[in-house]
Amino acid sequence: MTRLREFNLPHKVSITGFLIVFALGIGVSGVLYSSGSGRFSIMSFFSPELARLKYSATPLEKTLRTTMREYVKSEADIKTICRWLDSGSGRLGYYESASPIIQRDCSQCHGKVPTVAGVGSLYTYADVLPYAMTRGSPIRKLSLRAHVHLFGIGLLLLILTMLANRTSIPHFLKLTISISLFGLLATDILSQYLAKLNDAFAYIVWISGLLLNISVVISILLVLRDIWFGEQVEN
Ligand code: HEC
Repeated sequence: MTRLREFNLPHKVSITGFLIVFALGIGVSGVLYSSGSGRFSIMSFFSPELARLKYSATPLEKTLRTTMREYVKSEADIKTICRWLDSGSGRLGYYESASPIIQRDCSQCHGKVPTVAGVGSLYTYADVLPYAMTRGSPIRKLSLRAHVHLFGIGLLLLILTMLANRTSIPHFLKLTISISLFGLLATDILSQYLAKLNDAFAYIVWISGLLLNISVVISILLVLRDIWFGEQVEN
């Protein structure tokens, strides 16, 4: 098998371009994830909390802690609403604890007749229920995302692992790279569905996503090093 090191210059340049673009794509997905809280924060990259909100929390809790956070008066109010959510989102509890907060802080835009185009009303218990009973993203949205990720990233990983196989890194390392990259991708996507049932899977989404990104970056660096600085193979 011809080693990457022996490819001609145009090949090396196009492979290098591909790998740099791949690395940039990972950087962009990192920015996307880190700005999931409404504004960009480097720290959220290392916090599993965002993954829990995205894949396992009710839409109401998620928006209260992220995009709609600025409208809620205090953290105590969020806790009150979350306690109601955790208790099963019953009608009685709603009017006792959550409704006063929502009426006060949210009705300005999510009133009986929403004042902002395209947003839902949060006026009655029935209005709020759709945001309080489901967990994570709707199955359709999850599937759309999984569809794009499995095909797109799957193909990128195939190219990356085939490139890694043409380097001079040890055989067992090549095998480890292939198994871990595809294994982490499958684990990540599968856990996104399971997180709707149990919080623990949201943390698996987070850790497998993080490990996948780190492994891809390491693999890219290994391949680049081999292309440009690898040992010349004697003929
Ligand atoms: C100043 C106007 C405004 C206020 C006040 C406001 N929201 Fe929103 N809300 C929006 C807009 C605009 C969107 C759609 C865009 C987005 O998601 O950022 C939205 C979206 C949402 C969504 C997603 C579902 C949907 O209808 O699109 C939820 C849930 C939500 N808000 C809850 C709340 C809660 C709870 C409060 C009170 C703590 C609140 N909002 C206060 C403007 C507001």
